[in-house]
Amino acid sequence: MAAVFSLVLLIAAVVFLVVAVGVVWTVIRYRLRSRTSSEPRQIFGSPKLEILWTVVPLLIVTGLFIVTVRAMVFIDAPQDSSQLPDVVITGHQWRWEARYSSGIVVPWDIHIPTLRRLRARIESADVIHDFWAPELARKIDAVPGRWSYIWLEADSPGTYTGTCSEFCGAQHAWMRFRVIAEPEPTFEAWLNHQAQPSPEPSGLAAEGVRLFQSKKCADCHAVTATGVTPGAKGPSLAHLATREFLGGGISRNTPEALLLWLTNPQAAKPGNPMPDTLLSADERAALLAYLESLR
Ligand code: CUA
Repeated sequence: MAAVFSLVLLIAAVVFLVVAVGVVWTVIRYRLRSRTSSEPRQIFGSPKLEILWTVVPLLIVTGLFIVTVRAMVFIDAPQDSSQLPDVVITGHQWRWEARYSSGIVVPWDIHIPTLRRLRARIESADVIHDFWAPELARKIDAVPGRWSYIWLEADSPGTYTGTCSEFCGAQHAWMRFRVIAEPEPTFEAWLNHQAQPSPEPSGLAAEGVRLFQSKKCADCHAVTATGVTPGAKGPSLAHLATREFLGGGISRNTPEALLLWLTNPQAAKPGNPMPDTLLSADERAALLAYLESLR
């Protein structure tokens, strides 16, 4: 409802102009012309003027109140509490995760179909976060132990950026996300692709699979979008190689950036819960090959 903002801005601009012009005009018209000029005529009370400057602002404020309430009802239309959410979005320190009603869990990019209102449940796994995709929906706090609901909707396809807007710790700034709105068939195809496992790794990548288990990576990270347990410590790595960004937007998903996570996670994103990996260079290379195979 950007229209309401523009309307308020326009009215405020007109009021500002009227006042500014009035002040300048008064300063010039009634300036002290000489030491000898007498005091100007003093006016005490004018019922006409007083009624005017009471009624006009009252009308403006009443008008704005009506359009604002209408916009609020439109944005925050009542939801049917018995309807299951289409998507559950959870804030973690410091990343977002979306769980679709089909059980698919994706970190980072949240895909939505265009021209359909999704009922989204916003929750937190640890501290208070705030989910905000300014072009799509209102801001809403993600409060631990509490479920909040919003409508998530896009009229036209596109990539809409979002961020956490409640200070939640060291990496609050790197808790970005993107909402990717696409036509319903494209969205369904994406959701189906997410449900598929990645191709069977071979060669060095196959060695990476073995290390992924033995080095306990699998304790915190899922590798399929359907295999994410609620409360998992680390983000899902399902289809990791198709992702454009890592670590809540802190870096692009390049082999170098991924290798840094395997070498020194605290350098990749200081304060994140990932412990030191203590891997040899060969082990890192094998794990990297496996992660790069997760398409
Ligand atoms: Cu999460 Cu700020």
